[in-house]
Amino acid sequence: MITGKYPSLRLRRSRKNDWSRRLIEENNLSPNDFILPVFLIEGKNKKQSIKSMPGVYRYTLDKITPFIDKAIKKKLPMVALFPYTEKRKKNMLGTEALNEDNLVCRAIQLIKKRYKNEIGIMCDVALDPYTSHGHDGLLKSGYVLNDETINVLVNQSLLQAEMGCDVLAPSDMMDGRIGQIRKALDNNGHHMTQILSYAVKYASSFYGPFRDAVGSKGLLKGNKKNYQMDFKNSNEALREVALDIKEGADMVMVKPGLPYLDIIKLVKENFKIPVMAYQVSGEYSLLANSINQGFVHKEVIIESLISFKRAGANAIVSYYADRLDEILK
Ligand code: PBG
Repeated sequence: MITGKYPSLRLRRSRKNDWSRRLIEENNLSPNDFILPVFLIEGKNKKQSIKSMPGVYRYTLDKITPFIDKAIKKKLPMVALFPYTEKRKKNMLGTEALNEDNLVCRAIQLIKKRYKNEIGIMCDVALDPYTSHGHDGLLKSGYVLNDETINVLVNQSLLQAEMGCDVLAPSDMMDGRIGQIRKALDNNGHHMTQILSYAVKYASSFYGPFRDAVGSKGLLKGNKKNYQMDFKNSNEALREVALDIKEGADMVMVKPGLPYLDIIKLVKENFKIPVMAYQVSGEYSLLANSINQGFVHKEVIIESLISFKRAGANAIVSYYADRLDEILK
């Protein structure tokens, strides 16, 4: 490994000039490395700011066209749709998830009709935007039921696939759901619909601002520790990924991102499968608010994003995806 010795070897030699640094750089970012989240709200002509996520907005459907136009212009490969569900539409069972006229379904149809395959559409498969208790599945005595929840997730998946969703992203962490969803998709003629499994999703406090963004914050009873992973563990991440690959996942996600770079690397080294990383809302919020306060320079954004690439991520879900060049100018 060490091929020379000071003073004949000087590593600073190649760092001296910008051209030389550029020549030897090992990692970089391109538009292809990003998935752009989009928050949706009901109504007309609204672009609503989100207090904990300065620079990120919720859009009504009539306002998303300019946003998607921009994503396409910047050559981003995919958007991820997240609905803010009105409280009156939430209930214990999250039945709004299966309403073919819900916000996500209408958004998928609108985007597909207008943009065809110019950009991919990814949708979460989970019930938390729709349940009155804020959990990702069906709740019984404080516990999220596994198999019963899968039945609903399968129907949610089929519905979103029928609407034209390209990539289904189960973010619920039920055991065995990838296999069931794959089987149902195949049996119903959706054999080309991809599955990006949130295979390694930790029970994390970094999701706080997201829950604010989709309106489930005050609602969540307890925490998600009986289904999302314990952040003290890493072996378990490999078991989760192995299972999901066997069950038919096309890609896997590690989430959150920055505090879990070791996990991204571990997954990438052990499985030759596309690995996505999610720079979640809390990470965004920490960076954006510190930059706005002048506590850190905005280059922390690139430094963070490059660390995902160094760790081995193929792409990153980031709330910065559409604005990187503008911010850094
Ligand atoms: C819901 C879901 C969450 C996120 C994406 N999908 C929150 C959660 O599990 O509570 C978090 C994304 C973010 O924080 O940016 N299943």
